[in-house]
Amino acid sequence: MESLSLSFHDHTLIITVNRPDKLNALNKTVIEKLGAAVNDVYNNAEIKSAVITGSGTKAFVAGADISEFAALDAKGGKAMAEKGQMQVFNKIEHCPKPVIAAVNGFALGGGCELAMACHFRIASDNAKFGQPEVNLGLIPGYGGTQRLTQLIGKGRAMELLMTGNMIDAAAALQYGLVNYVVPQEELMNKTLSVAGLINTKAPLAIAGCIKAANAVFDESTNGYETEINIFGELFDTADAKEGAAAFLEKRPPVFKGL
Ligand code: COA
Repeated sequence: MESLSLSFHDHTLIITVNRPDKLNALNKTVIEKLGAAVNDVYNNAEIKSAVITGSGTKAFVAGADISEFAALDAKGGKAMAEKGQMQVFNKIEHCPKPVIAAVNGFALGGGCELAMACHFRIASDNAKFGQPEVNLGLIPGYGGTQRLTQLIGKGRAMELLMTGNMIDAAAALQYGLVNYVVPQEELMNKTLSVAGLINTKAPLAIAGCIKAANAVFDESTNGYETEINIFGELFDTADAKEGAAAFLEKRPPVFKGL
């Protein structure tokens, strides 16, 4: 059985972590394959957006695969975190095409981090989120300390990080960690419908939204300047001309990503 499966819905690539008997835990192979799938989202012009989800009804991803931890020392642990962040999690965050997490159950440890690296999250009503690494004598290594604090604020993040407690979907919605909570059987439809709406917009404008919003969290960048520059650059695109022309001609725009 493939540990990561890929399928298409229109122009949306659905990336499914597929180890349901291990609650979709992220082992080395899954991390490699996730990295390759994310590269494909960057490079394949047919792909306008991506959804990341987990196989089965119980888990999105229940964390990094703990069975691989026994072999790690300080050097190995650092390399694991660096590789994961650089080759998967940061790449998802900075992907110029929208990547949405469809969280269909436990999103713990690396699973919560994977969901948080996505541009936003939609959860099923059985979803549970947490960073339980302290129970293993560890901290998150795939960006969890940073993104959880960005998304839900310092006090709530500190509590979740230090207690290892899980929160349910309703709390995640209240915290702003997820955008919607829907019954599990509606999760993929809801996620694909939001992705489908974004797929109708001008791709370069979508890439601009992602880059400018990410700049808020990049201390080396002035986000307002980034916004000014992207806003200006977009006026030279065929799609911006098409958008304005279509509005004035009272017809739907046809965007080409140019
Ligand atoms: N790594 C490796 N295997 C994992 C795993 C992980 N992160 N999470 C779950 N599994 C495996 C279990 O070992 C079990 O395998 P087995 O059937 O071969 O024994 C299988 O998935 C099912 O998990 P189980 O613990 O029996 O399910 P449960 O419903 O009793 O509990 C959880 C669900 C999510 C509460 C529990 O699996 C758990 O705490 N997982 C670890 C979460 C974690 O600490 N993640 C952070 C890692 S850094």
